[in-house]
Amino acid sequence: MVMVVFRLPRPYPGGRSHFYYSTIRRNLHYEKMKIFAAPLVKFVLAIIIGINLRRKRRPVGLCGFPDLQKRGSIMLDIKITRTSTPKAKPEDESKLGFGKIFTDHMFVMDYTAGQGWHDARIVPYGPFQLDPATVVLHYAQEIFEGMKAYRTADGTVQLFRPDCNAKRMQDSADRLCIPAIPEEDYIQAVEAIVDVDRDWVPHTFGASLYIRPFAFATDVGLGVHASRHYTFCIICSPSGAYYAEGIDPVRIYVEDDYIRAAPGLTGFTKCGGNYAASIKAGELAEEQGYAQVLWLDGVEKKYVEEVGSMNIMFKIDGKVYTAATVGTVLPGVTRRSCIELLKDWGYEVIEGKLAIADVMQAARDGKLEEVFGTGTAAVVSPVKELVWKGEHAYIGDGKIGPVTQKLYDTMTGMQWGRLPDTKGWIVPVKPVY
Ligand code: COI
Repeated sequence: MVMVVFRLPRPYPGGRSHFYYSTIRRNLHYEKMKIFAAPLVKFVLAIIIGINLRRKRRPVGLCGFPDLQKRGSIMLDIKITRTSTPKAKPEDESKLGFGKIFTDHMFVMDYTAGQGWHDARIVPYGPFQLDPATVVLHYAQEIFEGMKAYRTADGTVQLFRPDCNAKRMQDSADRLCIPAIPEEDYIQAVEAIVDVDRDWVPHTFGASLYIRPFAFATDVGLGVHASRHYTFCIICSPSGAYYAEGIDPVRIYVEDDYIRAAPGLTGFTKCGGNYAASIKAGELAEEQGYAQVLWLDGVEKKYVEEVGSMNIMFKIDGKVYTAATVGTVLPGVTRRSCIELLKDWGYEVIEGKLAIADVMQAARDGKLEEVFGTGTAAVVSPVKELVWKGEHAYIGDGKIGPVTQKLYDTMTGMQWGRLPDTKGWIVPVKPVY
């Protein structure tokens, strides 16, 4: 259409003749077309650009599930079935471990293509019955989140930035082609299950109720395509520190062979597949006495990315460095919160590429001041030693550094209500059920 407009007859030079009048007519026609053509060209271009932009801006989490758009922000109608056989609560909260004990109930909701998410319910904790050909068992179409509920000294039970987890789960859902759970539904579901199992939230500082929301494909069949049915579930586990070391510094093995993520893959999501692929390296590192591996970028194996269950930060010569969350690194809620705090305290935080060779050089030069991991499960975890290609870097004097300690104290202080929530990150769970 644009081409036709540009091929209009050009003005015709010549005397007053038949040709003159036909030229005038043609010129008039041309002028009219010019007046008409300019806005038309703009209009057509705008449509073409608009269509392309819309194609590029894929709706987050819809992934072929347009029925998700239909639901507005109507509250979930959660049906509650309480257990008739409540379990005994753990007696010694100093021996909880991580993710070993589970509460009395779980939240469940189903998705059916064409119907959307439905049948929100809280039921007694128990196993799922799955057909052996269920999609998730074969193709790992699954995503999850990690959050905690904390009990403060006055008995309040509270969450930390649940909106961030809800949004991250939507991003994971989009990448894994799982229908997204609306943010308000996600938060309502988390609050409901925590409220129902409120008595399971530990009373001890440092122990919390670890919340594990997850969603998985439940179609039955072996074809590789997006499932039309899903289950969203939330289970809760009263837990202590993620690492046996607690807040004591850990040793980390810099993985030089296997990789965790590469551009275009799923590194930025919390999907089971990322963790499945990390287990072998983690086991090998553990066999050698390291708590976890530090992953390097998947292309050059040159730049630091993240640790098995946490993001990682390096304080070198007064500045804090951490990998940017540009697709291969998990956008951690604790990572983000620590960066905000560090900036508030006046530290320069550089989110970008940091070569492992430069980290080792900084250690040799005595400039590697602190290294720490950040994650929901681990909170802030100091690192005392890195090993890369056989070379060991020892950090500080092997004890937790002052910035790491301040971050740990501030984060846990706000989470357990020992410090005021100056950032608006805390969400109390109101007793409703
Ligand atoms: C978390 O920090 O919540 C995590 O999800 C890490 C986990 C794999 C233990």
